[in-house]
Amino acid sequence: MSPTSVADDLIRLHLSESPYGASASALTAAHSALDRISLYPDPARQQLIAAIAAAYGVADEQIAVGNGSDELVLLSSLAVGDVGRPGLVTAGTFPGYHTCLERTRRGSLSVPLDGTAINVPAFTDAMSRVGIAYVCNPHNPSGGALPREQFDGLVHAAASTGVPLVVDEAYLEFAPPDTPQVRDYLSSGAPLLALRTFSKAYGLASLRIGYAIGSAELVTQLRSAQETMPFSANRIAQAAAAAALADGDFIADVRAANAERRAWFTAELARRSRRHLPSVTNFVAVAVDDSASAERLLAREHGILVRDARRFCFPGFLRISLGEREHLRCCLDALQEIDDQSRSWLRLARRRGTPGRAPQRERTVVTGRGLDQGHAKH
Ligand SMILES: Cc1ncc(COP(=O)(O)O)c(C=O)c1O
Repeated sequence: MSPTSVADDLIRLHLSESPYGASASALTAAHSALDRISLYPDPARQQLIAAIAAAYGVADEQIAVGNGSDELVLLSSLAVGDVGRPGLVTAGTFPGYHTCLERTRRGSLSVPLDGTAINVPAFTDAMSRVGIAYVCNPHNPSGGALPREQFDGLVHAAASTGVPLVVDEAYLEFAPPDTPQVRDYLSSGAPLLALRTFSKAYGLASLRIGYAIGSAELVTQLRSAQETMPFSANRIAQAAAAAALADGDFIADVRAANAERRAWFTAELARRSRRHLPSVTNFVAVAVDDSASAERLLAREHGILVRDARRFCFPGFLRISLGEREHLRCCLDALQEIDDQSRSWLRLARRRGTPGRAPQRERTVVTGRGLDQGHAKH
């Protein structure tokens, strides 16, 4: 019996997981690797590193492989750049950078967003005051990507200050091919690191495998910190990831299916007059009046998990993964029901002259420790 949680059986639109599974060749490679399950994995992660380096046309020394990009965020905050100085982050983003900088006691400075977008001029102005800088592009949870000239500005600031710029590209596979990315700037000599993951487009979230690509000097710093956990990338994950990378057709199909799902979902949002932010990723930020209550009611009363973006200091939105079409339809219907109930309560309260919040409803469909709503780092 495989270990599961209550959340496994709900409609999962909260972690930007793939509804398309993993490539058949990745699964075959994972099964074959099970034959050697009693042996430790290759601590040098050589085969996978060589496969990634070949795919990018860079040297092996420019790649590090980790236990998901989560591990690489932690290792970068431990060991990359001037560790005596804090790290720079943007407000309203994936909280992993801030969490790791604080837990490693490096500390962080945060640059407020400009509306829902990264404020690149303010960010680059602050770079000379830090030892490392993190940007999430495409941005979680807005779903948007930086225009080329703004990306140029970030790279230029990294080059002129010498402060390493870490660009989290967890969702890049879903974006249009001309979306600016670290790969385009590797030959510039700027201190750059991109973080990539096999958890999203490649559908291998359970295996925990990701990689960094960038300047050899920064990758050496990452790898040296990794000596504390030489086996953090397990054998099955390394094998599956190498096979997944080689399956170009699979990833092309996922990209196309996701783009089609995104077009359908955003058209459906427009049809239902629901405001949302434009997305190049596999999730959409959907505007709601009360995101905390919408997240809670969707989970408890409808068994649908979504992410309240306020947990990422990005108020006013739910981040909804582009899961199965039927699940997305259920989610939008449920949101409509929640809105209708809350409006009718407000009308009733106004008529009675008792302003206030809608009462907590009695019906509780889903409860349980595995509900997963407390964990909001992703
Ligand atoms: C922006 C961003 N970075 C990193 C991660 C972590 O990915 P991984 O599963 O590779 O640890 C996530 C996961 O949701 C993410 O959204």
